[in-house]
Amino acid sequence: MREIIEFFESLMKILAERDLWKPLATVGGFIAISAFFLGRSYQKWRVPHDIAKLDRELADCKVQLGAHQAIEDALAKDDDELWKFRTTRRSDDLLGKLADSRVKIMTLANLKGGVGKTTTTASLAAHFDSKGKRVLVIDLDYQGSLSAMLLRASGRRRIDGSLADDLLSGNLHGEKLVKYAKDLEHKANKGETRLSRTKLITATYSLARLENRLMLRWLSQHETEDIRYNLARALLSPEIEQKFDLVLIDAAPRLTTGTINALCASTDFIVPTILDGLSTETLPGFLRQTKRLIKQELNPHLELAGVVATMTEEKHLKPEEKTERENVARWVGEEWGASGHVFDTHIPDRTALGKAAGRDLAYFTDLGENGAQGFFDRLGAEVASRIGLTYDCR
Ligand SMILES: Nc1ncnc2c1ncn2[C@@H]1O[C@H](COP(=O)(O)OP(=O)(O)O)[C@@H](O)[C@H]1O
Ligand SMILES: [Mg+2]
Repeated sequence: MREIIEFFESLMKILAERDLWKPLATVGGFIAISAFFLGRSYQKWRVPHDIAKLDRELADCKVQLGAHQAIEDALAKDDDELWKFRTTRRSDDLLGKLADSRVKIMTLANLKGGVGKTTTTASLAAHFDSKGKRVLVIDLDYQGSLSAMLLRASGRRRIDGSLADDLLSGNLHGEKLVKYAKDLEHKANKGETRLSRTKLITATYSLARLENRLMLRWLSQHETEDIRYNLARALLSPEIEQKFDLVLIDAAPRLTTGTINALCASTDFIVPTILDGLSTETLPGFLRQTKRLIKQELNPHLELAGVVATMTEEKHLKPEEKTERENVARWVGEEWGASGHVFDTHIPDRTALGKAAGRDLAYFTDLGENGAQGFFDRLGAEVASRIGLTYDCR
């Protein structure tokens, strides 16, 4: 400290002795005034630039806010409106493959739950497998009922993750898909082999989260590919053509990402319904959506294989069921014209079908012409002739 004080004292002394105060003050003053004016000019130049930058940032924010608002509005609309949010980038190449597909791809869908979609999917798989067809069954309902039903029926207890997540996100296709799909082959008590030609893509609840994520990314334009065709891209491959004759897809009772994908990848679809007013009330809307949103905009090759009545009176329909069947036939005709169809075969309300669920397939336990097996064999034969699948249906 003492050294510093001494240094300043000697500096003052030198300045005083040599009379350097005046020039030093002049130079200092000049520097201060120049700095002041330079500072002011810099401010004058910088402020407009800053304002322009802020304006640009504000405009970006407004665009982003507008996009968020549009997404929020879209999410508040009906599901079919939501799926029209972005313009469709239809790939003619992909849809051409669907038109030429040797493998029939069929979705079972209805916006109502509890109408027999899952039971019909599993039973048709068992029917076509028993007729020698190689079937790929895909569970696209996040509730995973089809997975549980088929795995339990084939003596397996655990679902072991959701293969449908990988399939929908585009990570499971070609050889990998064939390799990872679950084998359902098993020996029954009496020694016969069942479901030896059927493989399953499982679903669990995690599928719902994946579907939401994919949908939001698509809405906010983060996805370059149109995610509505992810399943079509995975299924329309030479490996699937070689390994399977038929793909059966069980859809959720809503136009979820999975259901949209299923309908965009299908050659045909079946609508199971109970013939009561409560179950059929959403049918006209669903037939309209599948025609106008899917057939006319997204997948021109989709055909309605038919509507099948489930849980009906045993042999002949009750008068109320007959009336409802006539209504259904009219709605089908109004939307799908001459190509619409209501199957002659109806699936009666059978305790065996309800009871078997979760343990076995009634197709294997309720045998004979008048059993569940008989009903689904007749329905299967009708379906095959509607979709052009050839086999010996005796
Ligand atoms: N023909 C039928 N007779 C009796 N019960 C049935 C029949 N079809 C389905 N069920 C039962 O009805 C319930 C709903 O069937 P499910 O196939 O799961 O419908 P969804 O897939 O449309 O929700 C299940 O408990 C199922 O076992
Ligand atoms: Mg179901």
